[in-house]
Amino acid sequence: MTMFGLVAQAEQNVAKVGAGRYRCRYHLLPPVGWMNDPNGLCFRKGTYHVFFQYAPQSAEGAGIHCWGHYASPDLLTWKYCGAAICPDTPDDADGAYSGSAVAEGDRLSLYYTGNVKHKDKPYDYISDGRESNTILLRSENGYTFGKKQVLLRTADYPAEFTRHIRDPKVQKTDGGYTMVLGGRLKGDRGAVLVYGSADGEKFSLREVISGREKFGYMWECPDLFTLGGAQFLCVSPQGVPHEKYKFQCTYSSGYFSGDACAENFHEWDTGFDFYAPQTFFDGSRRILFGWAGMPDVPYDNQPAVSEGWQHSLTLPRELVNKGGKLYQMPVREIERLRGEEIPLSQDCGCYELQLDDVAPGTKIVLSEALEIAFGQDCVFRFLSDAGRGRTERRADVRVHSARIYMDVSLCEIYLNGGEKVFTSKLYPQKNTVSLSGSCKAVRHVMNGYTINY
Ligand code: FRU
Repeated sequence: MTMFGLVAQAEQNVAKVGAGRYRCRYHLLPPVGWMNDPNGLCFRKGTYHVFFQYAPQSAEGAGIHCWGHYASPDLLTWKYCGAAICPDTPDDADGAYSGSAVAEGDRLSLYYTGNVKHKDKPYDYISDGRESNTILLRSENGYTFGKKQVLLRTADYPAEFTRHIRDPKVQKTDGGYTMVLGGRLKGDRGAVLVYGSADGEKFSLREVISGREKFGYMWECPDLFTLGGAQFLCVSPQGVPHEKYKFQCTYSSGYFSGDACAENFHEWDTGFDFYAPQTFFDGSRRILFGWAGMPDVPYDNQPAVSEGWQHSLTLPRELVNKGGKLYQMPVREIERLRGEEIPLSQDCGCYELQLDDVAPGTKIVLSEALEIAFGQDCVFRFLSDAGRGRTERRADVRVHSARIYMDVSLCEIYLNGGEKVFTSKLYPQKNTVSLSGSCKAVRHVMNGYTINY
């Protein structure tokens, strides 16, 4: 059977998995199995395309690692279009890893990393034993793809790098195309490789960016864009030491405003489950999707795994540059999912909760599981095992307002109009809300996306 056949075979389970109690209703999930990074985000001829890292054969990420594909005219009604890239050549044998899309007229070009692991002897897969091929696939209709073309192989990357180089993010620029790749330098320092190209196929190295001092050992999933007159380099660094308000998770992700140094790095999210985001421009706004998940964590998602799936993407978030800081709020389309107003005491697992005029000392408990204490800073604390081992996170912000989106087993909390965001999974038994202290609270039911599998 072909790889595409094996994916389709795993997807025969889609109705059973789709009936899971903890499935989110207004977030993109794997049809079956495992999802990680958003890939290939773009807007092509009136359609949004969202590809994603997908392991359909296992909710824990084993088996085939391919790209899944959703398409939508409005970010609310989605069609699942099947696997777009499968690891079916020697150049990507161990996974079609993360990458990006460029949409130009009819043409859609996907750039990704073909991961190859040699198995003839034991390797550390850092300094040896691994290939990371940068591969291009083109489509003229947005849905079916032509022949894979390897643009860069291990021997083409600079010698100062280990074998960890991946996640091409390509964009059209005035003079041609720019590509950023994430990497790990020898000596275990994270870095970004910046390439340029006139035709989108022949790329040459322009620059390696790694900052003055070491900032983590590996930078995954880079992104580079200009917004509000400033340029932002985004990375997902691994190995940055934990601090009280920063880098609280196993790995982090954020952007440098200005030079690539620790002082200029701003994390996207303070929650337990956010990593490896990607952005794109849809003609009027820059939109970010993150992976609502995190690798190598001391907590789990067993309730979802036992339903045959794990992880999701975040809501699409519009980015706005406010004085060099990027604010994030869900795109305005999400407001169209808002249903009737309901009291805090009603048991309802899909809701939006708007808090205003939040006085210090106010506390709110979501779904009898997650307490949020607003004071000089903001503390998120799990009160029950609905957190599956998640404990506490802190955001260094005095909160005046919050927009909370709860979607069955995922919440996204936007503080002060998107100044800080907290994303976390939770598996509650009951979905009431309680409040002490002083603030204005308005709660609405949220309706789900329409998704056709
Ligand atoms: C980030 C990441 C990427 C890689 C992909 C593989 O979560 O590790 O660097 O391309 O996941 O699924």
